[in-house]
Amino acid sequence: MTRSTSLVSLGQIPSDVLMSTLRSKLSRWYSRHGRRFVWRRENPDPYITLLSEYMLQQTQASRVQSLLPPFLKRFPTIESLASASNAQVLVAWHGLGYNSRALRLRDCAREIVNTYNGRIPADEASLRSLPGIGHYTASALRAFAFHQKVVVIDVNIERIARRVFALPPDLRGRRAGSLLTSLLSQWQGRSSSSRFYQALMDLGAMRCKAKNPDCAACPLQSVCASAFAVIPQITAAKKEPSHRSVPNRLWRGRCVELLRSAAKHRMKLWDLEHALLGESNESDRQWLATLLTKLERDGLVSLTGDAVRLAD
Ligand code: ADE
Repeated sequence: MTRSTSLVSLGQIPSDVLMSTLRSKLSRWYSRHGRRFVWRRENPDPYITLLSEYMLQQTQASRVQSLLPPFLKRFPTIESLASASNAQVLVAWHGLGYNSRALRLRDCAREIVNTYNGRIPADEASLRSLPGIGHYTASALRAFAFHQKVVVIDVNIERIARRVFALPPDLRGRRAGSLLTSLLSQWQGRSSSSRFYQALMDLGAMRCKAKNPDCAACPLQSVCASAFAVIPQITAAKKEPSHRSVPNRLWRGRCVELLRSAAKHRMKLWDLEHALLGESNESDRQWLATLLTKLERDGLVSLTGDAVRLAD
């Protein structure tokens, strides 16, 4: 095969032989190098898969590996999570970042308890109707928790498929989605979705990384159309609202963090302001008032008079 030539734009459908070589190379590599995680079990508990997928949405797998067990100890059942207050779930979410995700997860548990008697549904439509569950998470749950044969595409899996099959970079949107789905399901063949897509996730994390892919150690190097030819992705720094050159997203986390460790999860406004900013002026105070109002709107904190606390 010619390296760096797009099979697809040339109208070539990858052959069954290529697909089966890709499949066996990936599978052999995964057996030797696949990562072991607390949520990867032969017969996973759907509740644990729900927690892990929620946590993995924006948090590194190694972090989730150490923070999932204490969270599970605190909320051992979906019912216990469903009945948690905002403050209880935010305290247990410590270290996992993006605090609004914790509230959405609790709301999702509530909906499962109220509408589905505490049993996590296994069909796409019901899963998609739950808070915080989009197309990716629904397919990950169906594959990993319910052993259904579905195609699972996250950013890492998409990156690998784009490289292996040298898809044209300008192929985007629905056409890209349906081509990726078709190529991945041919590559998957009769393998279980759970094993196949977790193998791809590991390959994406350990070899076919976004920056500096390690083609020399990649099990697919002899059959990948982009091997040794990948131009590392240069991602432009995101422009986001900031204060004192720190994104507001991080300030939000710091506020919640201070309240998590404060006595009764409560602080006087000026203590919070001082702990957060040290020396401050009128414009700092106005900025903080806006930040706290938004945190209150998102259900993370409550403001009363001159005090602020984690929301109940
Ligand atoms: N990211 C999302 N789901 C994952 C999983 N099951 N294993 C590793 N990384 C993941």
